Amino acid sequence: MRIIPVASGKGGVGKSLFSVNLAIALAEAGNRVLLADLDLGASNAHTVLGLRAVPKGIGCFFSDSDASIDNLILDTEYSNLRFLPGEGEMPGLANIRTSQKNRLIRQLRKQEADYLILDLGAGTSMTTVDFFLLSSEGILITTPNLTAILNAYLFLKNAVFRLLSRSFPRKSPGRTIIEEISADPGALQRIYLPTVFEKLKTADPENFERFNRLYRVFRPKLIMNMVEKPKDNLKAQKIKVSCQQYLGLELDHYGVIYKDHLQDIALASRLPIIRYKRESLIPQAIYRIAEKIEQTAPTETSGGEWNPEIEENYQTAEREAENDFEFRAAEIQKMIRSGVLTDSDFLELIRQQQYELKSLRNENRLLRNKLAAAIKQGFKI
Ligand SMILES: Nc1ncnc2c1ncn2[C@@H]1O[C@H](COP(=O)(O)OP(=O)(O)OP(=O)(O)O)[C@@H](O)[C@H]1O
Ligand SMILES: [Mg+2]
Repeated sequence: MRIIPVASGKGGVGKSLFSVNLAIALAEAGNRVLLADLDLGASNAHTVLGLRAVPKGIGCFFSDSDASIDNLILDTEYSNLRFLPGEGEMPGLANIRTSQKNRLIRQLRKQEADYLILDLGAGTSMTTVDFFLLSSEGILITTPNLTAILNAYLFLKNAVFRLLSRSFPRKSPGRTIIEEISADPGALQRIYLPTVFEKLKTADPENFERFNRLYRVFRPKLIMNMVEKPKDNLKAQKIKVSCQQYLGLELDHYGVIYKDHLQDIALASRLPIIRYKRESLIPQAIYRIAEKIEQTAPTETSGGEWNPEIEENYQTAEREAENDFEFRAAEIQKMIRSGVLTDSDFLELIRQQQYELKSLRNENRLLRNKLAAAIKQGFKI
């Protein structure tokens, strides 16, 4: 069973939209798929899936130590696709105990499926990071928004540190080095992990080898969602370069998904967009990614690089971003000509954009203030 966790640093970037539609795309291709809503405390995959009410979710599993997820998993109207609902009504669920988490993981691993897709909560709680680390090919979703990009990078940095500290037992020489770094926030910010790896290799070769076996095959994938123009995808380069330089990590790029107002209509009609209009932009991007996933299965020595040449998969993503942009422009023209896009749709679009401009302006002000403060303290541009 291939496990595909879907995570993000920032919330609301499209994890649930992507997880649900990816699960359907993989099931349509004949794979047995289990979709699990592990956004503990704020789950909503059932809404994206189009289910009205969810009888019981994963909260029941945690409140009863004898419970089995077998009784909670639902069949869906999509053949080959089963669904483990989350629990939106139980705040505090995000902080489950390690023993509960491990019990869940054990039961999930026992399921009969080709793919297990995990829709995770946003951010870097230990629970979420551990779910992400269940696989060497976890997907990280971001948008071109600067905060989302920064948080995506920080998510990966957290994941790498978690992997590190899990590989070095308490009181081992390696663990002492890691704890020293973690205790100094300044050092933690500037860190070049490749240098730390050298240090760990010398100080604690045995444990380092255990870590390195995992790290060599750790190959997370990036998806840039809510793109509006091909240039937005250039931000992917920033994360890639930071990962290479600071974390010694190769981050694959599965490609872009354009922002499409049809998603709102699909959501309001309680239909996953892949079912609502399969030939539209978002489903097409998701089918393309599903194909990339199917083309590459991770092995003992590879984390599932669907294209071993990392430069090449970033170039592919850029080409796809250009093509989708042209497709979108043509679609909009068609809609205007045929009158499908009404005046009120236009108004709504403009309103939405104004809202986004306003939040960008606020973010910009915040960053400028930070910069001014940094310059006061001697930071040079
Ligand atoms: N490509 C897109 N085009 C248009 N709307 C989108 C797109 N991707 C996501 N959305 C919308 O953005 C909102 C957030 O998406 P979603 O709930 O999937 O994000 P999430 O990352 O799961 O959020 P959370 O962190 O709260 O779990 C939803 O209303 C969704 O319909
Ligand atoms: Mg979600």
